[in-house]
Amino acid sequence: MDKVCIQGEKQLNGTVHISGAKNACMAMLAASLLTEDVCILRNVPDLRDVRFFIQLLETLGVKVEKLSPGEWKLQAANITHEASYDLVRQMRASVCIMGPLVGRLHKVSLPLPGGCVIGNRPIDLHLYGLQKLGCKISMNSGIIHVTADQLRGNSIFLGGRFGSTVTGTANLVMAATLTPGTTIIESAACEPEIVDLCKLLQQMGASIEGIGSPRITIVGQKQLRGFDYTVIGDIIEAGTFLIAGLITNGHLKIDQFCPEHLGALLHILEEIGGKFTIDTHHNSVEIFPCLDQLKPFHTTTLPYPGFPTDLQAQMCVLGLCIPGLSLITERIYPQRFMHVAELQRLGGNIILENSTAILQGPSRFSGADVMASDLRASAALYLAGLVSKGETFVHRVYHLDRGYENFDQKLNQLGASIKRIPDNS
Ligand code: EPU
Repeated sequence: MDKVCIQGEKQLNGTVHISGAKNACMAMLAASLLTEDVCILRNVPDLRDVRFFIQLLETLGVKVEKLSPGEWKLQAANITHEASYDLVRQMRASVCIMGPLVGRLHKVSLPLPGGCVIGNRPIDLHLYGLQKLGCKISMNSGIIHVTADQLRGNSIFLGGRFGSTVTGTANLVMAATLTPGTTIIESAACEPEIVDLCKLLQQMGASIEGIGSPRITIVGQKQLRGFDYTVIGDIIEAGTFLIAGLITNGHLKIDQFCPEHLGALLHILEEIGGKFTIDTHHNSVEIFPCLDQLKPFHTTTLPYPGFPTDLQAQMCVLGLCIPGLSLITERIYPQRFMHVAELQRLGGNIILENSTAILQGPSRFSGADVMASDLRASAALYLAGLVSKGETFVHRVYHLDRGYENFDQKLNQLGASIKRIPDNS
């Protein structure tokens, strides 16, 4: 397993281009299952999760061709409904094939995706929604079998204990596009990735109203056509670079993403004294050196448009760099704090009380060996490494490769010093 060595205390300066949004991309690749026609997806990031997902589609019978870097052609003319355990267990986003396969074939067999280090991640809401559309669900030998003699539109309330579900909304919208009648999803996820998916589905001929609101109405069609669509920029990657700029007291321009999608983070940065400008015309944010002016903050992760859970770990590092007491409460995944112990190893003055991280800054970070546990925790360890004295070794860096395209290269181009050390050296 590769590790990286980060030589800390370098200021970051320059421009960074944001890649396509991983979480939009997964559902969009799955949408190709809804039609026999050719589909083309552009601005697809080169990530471990995306490569796995494409492999999964191939095992279902989808013909896949890489047209050029970031551009893929997919055609699901002859497909099967059975997914392989080996791929599904490696990636929870595999659940996104359920909705389209139910819509197209009226059946799917999916191995239960299994546990996850960021906490319990059930799919009860996905299954409840499919039942409302007329599906029967059974489970045997660890495999969920979903079948429907006849699908019919219905009203589905998708709110759970922790709010709505992002991939659950994606699944049900996709299934409903080919379900006869009208489906109304109440308490739907409003995330930009869902909005982008709905726009792609509209291009396929789907009838969808209320996009971006918690009430989405879908009128099922007999069939859908192919698409040629460009994925939006990844707001979590953009947010991670914004935080990297702030903590290194750098001057960064971050472009190719929609700043409006990152409103919750930008609002906090404005409140705490961050110096930045937003250019909605050119889809960029420019951040200026201002670390010594930043004040501590309190925030809580919430479904969109609230503060994203996928930036909670990175935000912990920002809190640790600002003098005073900052608090971050996690409301989506109450156990998503695997990074806390590793940040402590680097000298971070952070404690956990229930689902709240209490951060006392400024911490004096000094390089150490730390272990990445999941995607966003890895990003937080990179950020802490950037501001640590000496060398930080981040082990199990493959977690980071699941969701950040060319992260080492992008950071090095901005002035960081990051070296990847292959397992065999
Ligand atoms: N939940 C249920 N029942 C369900 C589904 C979800 O109780 O059937 C709960 C979850 O346990 C969680 C909350 O609802 O507490 C929200 O989960 P959600 O279903 O929205 O998460 P997801 O769709 O599995 C996506 C992203 C995650 C991101 C979350 C929240 C993809 C592929 N993944 O997951 O991304 O954290 O939404 O925004 O879209 C990441 O990129 O690092 C990542 C984990």
